[in-house]
Amino acid sequence: MTNNKITIALSKGRIFKETLPLLKHAGIEPIDDIATSRKLILQTNQPNVQLVIIRASDVPTYVQYGAADVGVAGKDVLLEHGGQGLYEPLDLEIAKCKLMTAGPVELPDNEPPRLKIATKFINVTKAYYASIGQQVEIIKLYGSMELAPLVGLADRIVDVVDTGNTLKANKLVPMEHIADISSRLVVNTASLKMKHAVIKPFIDTLREAVENRR
Ligand code: ATP
Ligand code: PRP
Repeated sequence: MTNNKITIALSKGRIFKETLPLLKHAGIEPIDDIATSRKLILQTNQPNVQLVIIRASDVPTYVQYGAADVGVAGKDVLLEHGGQGLYEPLDLEIAKCKLMTAGPVELPDNEPPRLKIATKFINVTKAYYASIGQQVEIIKLYGSMELAPLVGLADRIVDVVDTGNTLKANKLVPMEHIADISSRLVVNTASLKMKHAVIKPFIDTLREAVENRR
């Protein structure tokens, strides 16, 4: 007998909030209230569908190893992860932003020849600076990247930018554009084969929901 139960990996915050209406279109609604529940596995009104709530940057890992069959992750997170074991069938067109380099409004007269770049996107940053032939030192941070240039930890940051308000509030300006970002549906490649009967219609219904919103 085939197991047709599907587990969907989502992160709290904007991805959960913006994915909910798309899931609703597919007839899937969580039973527990994420705002008050401390549960990490949420049951839904569909007995064969459950949600797991994890860190945004962990979504590709859960899906890659098949701990979740499908997930929703920002393209920034997917570029950083590398996408092994993942099929990316659908741009959900939510959580849109840009991956950019940014630096101080006023650049010092003599910048060091080898800039220090603070970021949580180590792989993407390495690849970007390699692509423009610039040698840099990369400093791994887990958040609040905007602080790094203010306190002399780094010369630039690589982070996502939407309104630009966070940069502005910290006297930084966006500099180079690395990639346009939105959140994608990712599917474990083995689950796609083994649970094709439920996953294929799920993808089709979400695609319809995305198209209806345009
Ligand atoms: P983690 O908890 O793993 O460090 P995170 O704090 O970046 O991740 P979120 O802030 O929920 O997680 O962001 C999830 C995704 O939403 C990001 O991967 C990115 O694609 C997108 N995103 C991040 N910031 C913004 C923003 N200000 N506006 C629009 N989309 C954004
Ligand atoms: C993200 C990102 C920036 C900010 C950019 O942080 O890390 O700090 O959004 O958005 P803006 O250009 O509209 O100001 P978020 O708000 O998700 O907080 P986080 O650092 O906790 O992820």
